[in-house]
Amino acid sequence: MKITVLGIGHVGLVTAGCMAELGHEVVGYDVDESKIEVVRSGRTPFYEPGLDELLQKGVASGRLTVTVDQGAAIAGADVVFICVGTPGLPHGGPNLTYVQEAAAMVARVATGPVVVAEKSTVPVQTGARVRQALQMEAAARDTEVLMSVVSNPEFLREGSAVQDTLRPDRIVVGADDEHGHDVMRRVYAPMLAQHDCPYVATDVPTAELIKHASNAFLATKISFINAVSRVCELSGADVEVVADAMGHDARIGRAFLNAGIGYGGSCFPKDVRAFDRIASELGYDFGMLRETDKINREAREWPMRRLREHLWNVAGKTVAVLGVAFKPGTDDIREAPSLDIIGELIEEGANIRLHDPVAMDQIRDLFPDAHFAASGVEALDGAHAVILCTEWPEYGEITPADLKARLEYPVVIDARNLWDLAAMRDAGLTAVQVGRG
Ligand code: UGA
Repeated sequence: MKITVLGIGHVGLVTAGCMAELGHEVVGYDVDESKIEVVRSGRTPFYEPGLDELLQKGVASGRLTVTVDQGAAIAGADVVFICVGTPGLPHGGPNLTYVQEAAAMVARVATGPVVVAEKSTVPVQTGARVRQALQMEAAARDTEVLMSVVSNPEFLREGSAVQDTLRPDRIVVGADDEHGHDVMRRVYAPMLAQHDCPYVATDVPTAELIKHASNAFLATKISFINAVSRVCELSGADVEVVADAMGHDARIGRAFLNAGIGYGGSCFPKDVRAFDRIASELGYDFGMLRETDKINREAREWPMRRLREHLWNVAGKTVAVLGVAFKPGTDDIREAPSLDIIGELIEEGANIRLHDPVAMDQIRDLFPDAHFAASGVEALDGAHAVILCTEWPEYGEITPADLKARLEYPVVIDARNLWDLAAMRDAGLTAVQVGRG
């Protein structure tokens, strides 16, 4: 099948690479010429394990091409995936201008029947708007090409995006006509032949809602355990044991019960607010989502509060910050909790020593006065305290002896509960973790 992907950001590029891997003929389109050049050479413009190999394979086989030419990208496509950005607006809802532009572009160029599939995360009922945009443009051009609107949300996580896409927990396809459903079944047939998973065929609004509900639920689960961690701190209980024991209940599950400094990234913060916004526009006050967001913002204040307890005045002290990416496995710093923490440290007059295994290039210009360390261990040298913001596995190799030997004062703020608390305390460190007595 011929598949077009509009927008080759994180979701678009992974979709393009995986669709080519399934044997489809894929064209990726983007307005950003420099991005196109990088992909054309079989490389990834951002860090995503396994994606380089997939792109190289796709480009070498001729099944994956990329272009800035709209006509060449869309002409003859069976399916056009809309994977453009939907950045958050100040009122909480997403900016859907790029989605509308993408839909209009399809209607301008399409010459035969085409399925327009939303993959960008959008509020429920956006499909109806996409259909309207297609119809407007088609009417303006007097064309009567069959254009079906489909919602096909992705559930990929950065850092494991390729595996999540090729071996998903479920595939969700919402369509309002049989043509849409038929075409999408053919798109996913090669994947389902290799990997058995539920295929949820539904209408467009239901598919759109599944995506927002899934992300909002996971975000709420994280905020729930972070709220529990506050009660643990006040009562002397241990949130790690609480989470493990809760997780043994199959109805609850242990995943996404890691207390810390909350969720970041380009999805959860934006999607929680957007879901609240669309619910309110539809007439439902989804207060729980605002509480999820509030708890998440408060979680980011925890490290500085604990730091001040131990250092008293932060001004003039040197603080090492380990991990800047919003989670391990990515160089993405969008809505990373670390940025708030570094911002506060700077505001309070601290000297900063920063390290991240892959996100250093994203932060050099943001914090020109910081020291950029060559390794996590080097970042510790001479610091009065360390704040661990991202639980990169390599930081797990740092021992209590390393911390003791390299830090000026033995203050360890482990905001992701990565290190062994008892071992740190045995080594004479003043160590604190989230939700642990
Ligand atoms: C998330 C969803 O997990 C994907 O299913 C979804 O497709 C994607 O958003 C999207 O909408 O595109 P992602 O943002 O890549 O994926 O990252 P997650 O692994 O879900 O982590 C999100 C944040 O939650 C991270 O900051 C992480 O540190 C935090 N987190 C996660 C916790 O604080 N505690 C946990 O127990 C789990």
